[in-house]
Amino acid sequence: MGTTIAIANQKGGVAKTTTCLNLGHALAERGQKVLLCDLDPQSSLTISLGFDVRELPSTIYDVLLDTNPRITIRDIIRPTKMNAVDVAPASIDLSKAELELFSEMNRERALKDALRPVLGAYDYILIDCPPSLGLLTTNALAASDSVLIPLQSDYLAMRGAELLLATIEKVRRKLNPKLALLGVLVTMYDARTNHSKDVLQEVRAAFGDRTFKSVIRYSVRAKESVISGQSLLDYDAKSPLAESYRTLADEILAYAKAA
Ligand SMILES: Nc1ncnc2c1ncn2[C@@H]1O[C@H](COP(=O)(O)OP(=O)(O)OP(=O)(O)O)[C@@H](O)[C@H]1O
Ligand SMILES: [Mg+2]
Repeated sequence: MGTTIAIANQKGGVAKTTTCLNLGHALAERGQKVLLCDLDPQSSLTISLGFDVRELPSTIYDVLLDTNPRITIRDIIRPTKMNAVDVAPASIDLSKAELELFSEMNRERALKDALRPVLGAYDYILIDCPPSLGLLTTNALAASDSVLIPLQSDYLAMRGAELLLATIEKVRRKLNPKLALLGVLVTMYDARTNHSKDVLQEVRAAFGDRTFKSVIRYSVRAKESVISGQSLLDYDAKSPLAESYRTLADEILAYAKAA
């Protein structure tokens, strides 16, 4: 059975999508079979993987809303350029899902039900959440074994995390008792500034050993790789940024082994 990890933070631009893509690739480099699930109507993950979202015949929206009973998750999954990494793509249609799911039975568990047929086919399923705490993120949390929180190295980001933790706790109580906090990943860290160092120290004080040892530094390589349509691990395989996503993958694999 695959392990499902939601990559969530309601704050925008903290590297959720970048982490989903590159952690996925790093896990695949370590021999894991990976499914990336795009749950953001902005479809940044799908676009970053080189898909033209207007040309996709069906997406995660169709599966969540059951627009056609013959379309299952298997029908929407596409291979990516990365070996052993598939994607369940999204499109702008997904922006209707929050509203439309609202009146559905089982509205918080639509993704969990949708993923069930492919749980056995993957070692890791990584869900890229939108920057909000609405029904889509709730669906991701209800479908997941654990949550990875990317936290931008910024004082205000710490404050926003409290709301996210409260949401995780609520989902744990009402929908998914097994949901664990996998860890907090500090992103866009700038070692030259005291501010970044202070924030890292504060995150470690608040989350203790739930803070990943891997820290993702700020680097323009991250943006360049998106433009090139490649993962960081392909775009600049030996860069410190690619390396830190590999050590993150190692931490997660070691954690799974110890569990
Ligand atoms: N380590 C990094 N250093 C510099 N820029 C980065 C880094 N990681 C990601 N970025 C850039 O920051 C921007 C936001 O990243 P990303 O899209 O991954 O965040 P997000 O949390 O998914 O955003 P959203 O909330 O809009 O979905 C992108 O332009 C991305 O290329
Ligand atoms: Mg994103």
